[in-house]
Amino acid sequence: MSTTTRRSSGRRRQQQQHRSPSPLPRQPVVARSPSPPSDDANALIPQSLLDVIAKNRRRDVRRMTAMCLLPTVLIVFAKGFASEDLSGVSLENMDAGAMKILLLAAFTSALAYKITARLIPLVARRTLGKRNMFGLDINKKGTKMGEIPIPEALGLASGCAVLVSLVVGRSIHTAFILDNSGESEHNAALATIGFMLFLGFVDDVLDLPWRAKMILPGFAATTLAQSYQGSTSIVVPRLFRENVHSVLAAIDSIPLVGDVIPSLKVDMKSGLMDVGYIYIAFIWLLAVFLSNAINIHAGLNGLECGQSLVIASGIIALNVWSLLTDPTANVVVGPHVFSLLLIAPFFAATVGLLKQNWYPSAVFVGDSYTYFAGMTLAVAGILGHFSETLLLFCLPQVINFLYSIPQLFKIVPCPRHRLPKFDTQTGLLSPSKATETRYNMNLVTLFLRLFGKTTERKLCLRLLAFQVACVVFTFAARYVFIAFVHWK
Ligand code: UD1
Ligand code: MG
Repeated sequence: MSTTTRRSSGRRRQQQQHRSPSPLPRQPVVARSPSPPSDDANALIPQSLLDVIAKNRRRDVRRMTAMCLLPTVLIVFAKGFASEDLSGVSLENMDAGAMKILLLAAFTSALAYKITARLIPLVARRTLGKRNMFGLDINKKGTKMGEIPIPEALGLASGCAVLVSLVVGRSIHTAFILDNSGESEHNAALATIGFMLFLGFVDDVLDLPWRAKMILPGFAATTLAQSYQGSTSIVVPRLFRENVHSVLAAIDSIPLVGDVIPSLKVDMKSGLMDVGYIYIAFIWLLAVFLSNAINIHAGLNGLECGQSLVIASGIIALNVWSLLTDPTANVVVGPHVFSLLLIAPFFAATVGLLKQNWYPSAVFVGDSYTYFAGMTLAVAGILGHFSETLLLFCLPQVINFLYSIPQLFKIVPCPRHRLPKFDTQTGLLSPSKATETRYNMNLVTLFLRLFGKTTERKLCLRLLAFQVACVVFTFAARYVFIAFVHWK
């Protein structure tokens, strides 16, 4: 069966789910300008209203982007340009190597943003217009907005933009800033991210079963784990050092067990414990987890892009901070530079996509985006050598995953979509149920149960505020541990 036929039949199923009093427009929507909506949307909703919607959407995204970038701008200003005694501000105060890296990151970000903006209408025209790939907005079911076919899989636009920007950025980096070191990690990153973009798009086209979606990222993560060249040691806090030391010695002394399990030792002075392959297994699991985690914390306009934007802004701030403050960090080739040059274009491409995907969505990002975004964040954290910090940034995704386990593993029923219930009278969302007696077990439903019914935009903003809180908490935790508890 051809791809097109499969997709159409998949979508036909979806149309039946969304049956509405008036039939769907027969002609598919074709996005002509960088800002879909389209002829069909025009037919259902007056142009003047569409213009207001697009303006509000752009305003929201501008504000969110500014908020996300504010900490980094402050860091660059305070640590890069201000003199140590804060007596003056000058471009001269910035280390020349660090300046080059920041300029390169800004250039590749601008490139990724521009390419994403150009590709969105082109991809939308092909997925929706030529292949009839669209989704209906479930949280607007029963309204005119719920009848508009919305182009799917637009993550393809941002994914391609990021891959192109990474290649261009790397070429400039090797040509003008340094030699070829770190090439294998860079190539593994490209292969891994490309693999996930491909997998996501295949899922958008063919609707893969859940077990395939769980297993396939493992292969991409293997390439990543194999290329990891950082430390495999963890730091045992001073407080627990004695206890961990005695537990390890006790395990080592058990006959057979001590022979089978490689013996681990804590350096009592530095607290470092080399856990070897256990650490590699951890980063492998982290990559598999994150590529699925964004996809299952989804279903509200802008949530997939929004959460990725917040996490990426945390990663950018951490990298820029390390670049400008850590005297041991290598300012032109170190892991933080690598991570920054990877995540900056991703952030910019996500802004470009969010401008069309924020409430009310003109495009859907699809699994092409969720898998690619999850893996890009994982690569930035793992190859930047701060995977534990990344896991803390992703606390909402961890909670959502743990809470979802009974439904994911079919211990309790799991409907195809775990989206909230939309009330056409009030325009509010309320918690949805999997069965008569049981609510859906995800963070979106939990927030509705805890904080009450609300609009889709507000619910998404609340979830993003929680994500911001987790990123802020992570920075505070790092600071407390490093400064006061002598974590290191
Ligand atoms: C995952 C979730 C599912 C959720 C879906 C929505 C699990 C196990 N699976 O499934 O519960 O419903 O994502 O993304 O948690 N859609 C909207 N509004 C949006 C975004 C998507 O209505 O803001 C709908 C559209 O009809 C779109 C469809 O969701 O076509 C996309 O769903 P898809 O990404 O294929 O779902 P899954 O990733 O399989
Ligand atoms: Mg999805």
